[in-house]
Amino acid sequence: MDLGLKDRVAIVTGGSKGLGRAEAEALAAEGAAIVVATAKSVREADQVVRDLQSRGSRAVSVQADVSQTADVQRLVETTLKTFGRLDILVNNAGTTGPHLNKPLVDLPEELWDFMLGNHLRSAFLCIKYAAPHMVKQGWGRIINTSSIHGRVGGRPSLGHYGAAKAGVIALTMTAARELGPKGVTANVIAPGFIGTEALRGSLAPPTLEKLQQQVPLGRIGEPAEVGRVVTFLASEAASFLNGAVVDINGGRLEYFF
Ligand SMILES: NC(=O)c1ccc[n+]([C@@H]2O[C@H](COP(=O)([O-])OP(=O)(O)OC[C@H]3O[C@@H](n4cnc5c(N)ncnc54)[C@H](OP(=O)(O)O)[C@@H]3O)[C@@H](O)[C@H]2O)c1
Repeated sequence: MDLGLKDRVAIVTGGSKGLGRAEAEALAAEGAAIVVATAKSVREADQVVRDLQSRGSRAVSVQADVSQTADVQRLVETTLKTFGRLDILVNNAGTTGPHLNKPLVDLPEELWDFMLGNHLRSAFLCIKYAAPHMVKQGWGRIINTSSIHGRVGGRPSLGHYGAAKAGVIALTMTAARELGPKGVTANVIAPGFIGTEALRGSLAPPTLEKLQQQVPLGRIGEPAEVGRVVTFLASEAASFLNGAVVDINGGRLEYFF
């Protein structure tokens, strides 16, 4: 099936590793040109670009902290200068990790602000500065990234993350209503546990085993499985999806402590 992505240009924020890298690879495999945005991992982003180019894809990397207005504006400008258009925005960037986990009463206000900025403000800014170019051409796709924590509430010590990810869902709904009439769709993925290199490296084997038992499919997900869903949402095949929340979790609709 031709997904209609051959002449499309996509920004993938946080495309230097993890899910973003898999999403960039999947979109590129269908012919889209890729702009990999990363805040700090410049070496990894350049490696992703070299790998994509070695497979015949068009790709560039841009160092941009997508929670900062000037960086987002430069990201969009560089995309237009390099590839002449912008069709697909994958808002994936976001930092997590045990070092950021804190119960609400112990949560420093700066960490609350960081989490909301890193996951929610960044998605808003990218939509604000990318969507006008999609509207001008009458076609666009926005794919945001929430989480199971955005669907059912953040688990203990992840209240700030859950709130940010629930906000990403609400943001997507508004984007779908505002931009849909102009030919631009907005949808949001809500992954469960996906085995990125970083996540697998941080889990002790008994914890991984326990997690897998909670998933009806009996395993955690693979980044490539998320990449395929994002590619579908970016394609012509998803022409009547707008404002959809797509769970990617093997059927694990809640978590247990
Ligand atoms: N893995 C999972 O199980 C899972 C489940 C549900 C949801 N998610 C969500 O999926 C997304 C990706 O997660 P992941 O597991 O792939 O994480 P990851 O491996 O830690 O990758 C995060 C990516 O985001 C980039 N990033 C972070 N802050 C940024 C900023 N301000 N500006 C630009 N880039 C930034 C990082 O680049 P730098 O190193 O350059 O900052 C990196 O490329 C996140 O939004 C996460 O919340 C993941």
